[in-house]
Amino acid sequence: MERMNVFVVGAGVVGLSTAIRALEAGYNVTIFAEIFPGDPKSIKYTSCWAGADHISVVTSSTFMHELERETMQAFLHLIEVDPLVPVMLRPHVELTQAAGPDIKKKYDHLSQFYSDFRSLRQSELPEGVVAGVMFPTIHVDVPRYLPYLMNRFLHAGGQAFRMTIPSLSSLIARNDRPVLEAFPLSAGSPPSSDPAAVINCTGLGALSLGDVLDTDVYPTRGETLLIRAPWVHHGMTYYCQNSDVSYIIPRQSGDVILGGTWQIDDWHPISRPETVKSIKERGIHAYPELLPPNKRENPDINDLDVVEECVGLRTTRKGGIRLETTSIDIGGKEFPIIHNYGHGGAGYQSSWGSAKRAIELLQASLER
Ligand SMILES: Cc1cc2nc3c(=O)[nH]c(=O)nc-3n(C[C@H](O)[C@H](O)[C@H](O)COP(=O)(O)OP(=O)(O)OC[C@H]3O[C@@H](n4cnc5c(N)ncnc54)[C@H](O)[C@@H]3O)c2cc1C
Ligand SMILES: *[C@@H]1O[C@H](CO)[C@@H](O)[C@H](O)[C@H]1NC(C)=O
Ligand SMILES: *[C@@H]1O[C@H](CO)[C@@H](O)[C@H](O)[C@H]1NC(C)=O
Repeated sequence: MERMNVFVVGAGVVGLSTAIRALEAGYNVTIFAEIFPGDPKSIKYTSCWAGADHISVVTSSTFMHELERETMQAFLHLIEVDPLVPVMLRPHVELTQAAGPDIKKKYDHLSQFYSDFRSLRQSELPEGVVAGVMFPTIHVDVPRYLPYLMNRFLHAGGQAFRMTIPSLSSLIARNDRPVLEAFPLSAGSPPSSDPAAVINCTGLGALSLGDVLDTDVYPTRGETLLIRAPWVHHGMTYYCQNSDVSYIIPRQSGDVILGGTWQIDDWHPISRPETVKSIKERGIHAYPELLPPNKRENPDINDLDVVEECVGLRTTRKGGIRLETTSIDIGGKEFPIIHNYGHGGAGYQSSWGSAKRAIELLQASLER
C-alpha cells in the first residue's frame, strides 16, 4: 500500500517527537515550521529555553501522569540503546523551607513515581531547610537534544520545510499553498499532493494561526540564567518560604540552568534586571556550590559566571494538553487535524507519551 502523506506543523520538542513516531508508524512525514533546532534562539520557540528535567507534575491529571510515565520509559530506552544520546539519568534533590500538607502530598506522589526515592535525614538538610528528598531522574541536554531529534527525523526519511503558516488550511489547499523555502538539511521539494492529515504542534502559535484561535492558550513566563559551573553534576529544586522556587539543571557542556520564575500570562520577551538579581540571590543561597570553590565562604552574586540571561514562554493551556482530532473542510473534502499542544512546563517530560497518543489519533482518523 502506498505510504500516506502526513504534515506536521511545528518543530519544537513536541513536533519533532511526534514526527519521528509518525515516520516509525509508516507515514511519509513532512514538517513545516517557522523555527527549527539550530536557528538563533527565539521567544517564539519555547523548546530552546527549557531546562529540562523530568519531575512529575503533582497536581495534574492521571492522564498527564500516564504520558509522563511513558516518556520516562522512552528516555530510559534511549539511554540504553544509544550511549551518546544527550539525555542523562542523574540524582535530583528537592529541598523545602516550608513543610505542610502540600509538601507531604508532593513527596507521596514523587515516591510512587520514581524508583530509588528516599527522604533525606535531618542531618543531611542544610540550615533553614525543614524537609528534603532525593531520587534519580532524567535531565535532557536541550541544545544537543533538539538537533539530535532533527537529525534522527531526517535520517529516517523525513522532510522539513521552513515556512510561516498563516493558517492550517492554507497549508492543505494545494492551489494557494505559499511558496516554500527548503530547510537546508532536507533534500527534494515538498509533496505536491494534499496530505491525508495534519498534526498541529504549534505551541503558542495560537497567536499566529488564523483559522481557529484557541483562546485557552497563554504563556507562563520562565526567566532563567545559564551559569558556567562544570563541577555541578546533580539537579536540585529549592522551595523557599515565600513560595519562590529555585532550580538547577546541569548540562553536559558544564553549563547549568539556574531558575527561575513562573509568571502567568506575562509575554515580556527579555530579562528584567530585578528578576535576574533575585534569581542570583536565591540561587547562591539555595546552592552556594554554584560559585567557584574559592568563592563559597562569603557568597556574592557577582562571583557567579553568567553565560546568558534567558526568557522562555511555557506553552500553557487552560484544561491542559490538547490531544484530540478535529477536521477542516476544504472544497467539500474533510481533512483530519490532530492537535498536540499546550504542554505547559512539561513538554519534554511528556513528549514521547503525547507523541504516541497523537499517532493513535492519526491512525484512528485515517482508518475510518
Ligand atoms: C524556562 C523553562 C523551563 C522549562 N523546563 C522544562 C522542564 O524542565 N521539563 C519539561 O518537560 N518542560 C520544560 N519546559 C517546557 C517546555 O519547554 C515546553 O513545554 C515545550 O518546549 C513546548 O514545545 P512545543 O514543541 O509545543 O512548542 P515550541 O517549542 O514553541 O515549538 C513550536 C513550533 O511551532 C512553530 N510554529 C508556531 N506557529 C507557527 C506558524 N504560524 N507557522 C509556522 N510554524 C509555526 C514554531 O516555529 C516552532 O517550530 C520549560 C520551559 C521554559 C520556558
Ligand atoms: C511517499 O514517499 C515515497 C518515497 O519518497 C514516494 O515514492 C511516494 O510517492 C510518497 N507517497 C505519497 C502519497 O506522496
Ligand atoms: C492549531 O493550534 C493552535 C495552538 O497553537 C490553535 O490556536 C489553533 O486553533 C489550531 N488550529 C486549528 C485549525 O484548530
